[in-house]
Amino acid sequence: MGTTLGKLWAQNGHEIMFGSREAVRAQALAADIGEGTQGGSLKDSAEFGEVLLLSFPWYAFTDVERAVGNAVDGKIVFDCINPLKSSGSLALGHKWSAGEEIARTWHRAKVVKVFNHIYWQLLEQPEFDGVQADAYYCSNDDQAKAVAAQLSAEIGFNPVDCGPIKHARYLEPLAVLWMQLAFTMHNGPEIAFKLLRR
Ligand SMILES: NC(=O)c1ccc[n+]([C@@H]2O[C@H](COP(=O)([O-])OP(=O)(O)OC[C@H]3O[C@@H](n4cnc5c(N)ncnc54)[C@H](OP(=O)(O)O)[C@@H]3O)[C@@H](O)[C@H]2O)c1
Repeated sequence: MGTTLGKLWAQNGHEIMFGSREAVRAQALAADIGEGTQGGSLKDSAEFGEVLLLSFPWYAFTDVERAVGNAVDGKIVFDCINPLKSSGSLALGHKWSAGEEIARTWHRAKVVKVFNHIYWQLLEQPEFDGVQADAYYCSNDDQAKAVAAQLSAEIGFNPVDCGPIKHARYLEPLAVLWMQLAFTMHNGPEIAFKLLRR
């Protein structure tokens, strides 16, 4: 998710720094992608960005939190994490969510849940026969929502405001439904959600 979104946003003229537990890995990725991207440690990237994208497994959150310290304070934080167990079911759900836990932990940051229900391969192909796939997002912060909408629309998605961050508890199960539809129900990964309006 991080590699593809970073590349797409860099191609749109944004300054991107990839962060890794091993800075050299992020630097190698940046060299590979080009587009003026840079690489650094998790802390370097958290300090660099005005907008941060969290793209790592849920179980790594505590380690990342320790690595970045208060560098996230005041920043807009995009959370695309699904708190999956190895069985594919959710470690949290319905009464709490990864999005809410991150927003609670980083209460000085502006956390927005976004992209969690979009398969990484679709990030570069958000159009289905001329129809844009939806990008659902939720947050308690209006500025974070506006930036999530803008950065989703820039890469071709139709942004849909899904309300406050507590609705992450509904967006995270939606990602599990997507996985069930794609892989268990054999629809394949070329599927996405669309809100219809009359
Ligand atoms: N894959 C998808 O299609 C998709 C779609 C929607 C949402 N998501 C969510 O997006 C997040 C990222 O998924 P992904 O599939 O793109 O990548 P991923 O395979 O989950 O890992 C991304 C990076 O996380 C870092 N990482 C792994 N273990 C870590 C640890 N213990 N501490 C700190 N960092 C660690 C690694 O980077 P370094 O080794 O360089 O540090 C790794 O390259 C997940 O939470 C997933 O649920 C994924």
